[in-house]
Amino acid sequence: MTDTELLATVPIRHDRRPPADMVRAAEVFAERMAQRRSVRDFAADPVPDGVIEAAIRAASTAPSGANVQPWRFVVLTDPARKRRLREAAEAEEREFYERRAPQEWLGALSALGTDWHKPFLETAPAVIVVFEVHRGPHSPKPYYVKESVGIAVGLLITALHHAGLVTLTHTPSPMRFLNEVCERPPEERPYVVMPVGYPAPDARVPDLTRKPLEEVMVRW
Ligand SMILES: Cc1cc2nc3c(=O)[nH]c(=O)nc-3n(C[C@H](O)[C@H](O)[C@H](O)COP(=O)(O)O)c2cc1C
Repeated sequence: MTDTELLATVPIRHDRRPPADMVRAAEVFAERMAQRRSVRDFAADPVPDGVIEAAIRAASTAPSGANVQPWRFVVLTDPARKRRLREAAEAEEREFYERRAPQEWLGALSALGTDWHKPFLETAPAVIVVFEVHRGPHSPKPYYVKESVGIAVGLLITALHHAGLVTLTHTPSPMRFLNEVCERPPEERPYVVMPVGYPAPDARVPDLTRKPLEEVMVRW
């Protein structure tokens, strides 16, 4: 037994819409999302004030295990801080690509043409570093942390795309150096690094295909 009080309840806010409108909205949204791509070449142009904040607010509406909301979003825009991030990330990535990465992993990456150089960490006008927040002096024990933070990051990617920006889910390995660069305590564990901005004018992306619905969906 615990002595926590049951939360009060409020009516759900939900507008029931005509089915045809719903189908149309779902189709339009799917089409819009199909245009999302991971971008690795950024323009230096700044992003409009407030867009990143609103996108992080949207991400923070994600469901989370026991509603602990175990996420932290660190926004880096200071050029000196971004340079430190790039230098630290490239040192780790160089070690990864040249020594630590198993051949099988390098094989999977080779088609994408990625290597240890990460100029986008400096050229992108903003870099959002997302952390999982574990139990600490000021944070309770979270549940389903990876799932919760993953969902929040999915919403963040969607919100940035919806606002007209591009990003990349970048996962340097290992990532502990991010605590120092972002000045975060040890109970916060790096999850992903997301440069955010506009594509460089000559930016190109791999010509990928996505699995068709029949392959990813099962209906009984
Ligand atoms: C969990 C995760 C980690 C990723 N890590 C990296 C990374 O470290 N570097 C990178 O260039 N791309 C990374 N990506 C991006 C994927 O390569 C990219 O999403 C995939 O090739 C599909 O391309 P698209 O995002 O344009 O659809 C990562 C994606 C995910 C979901």
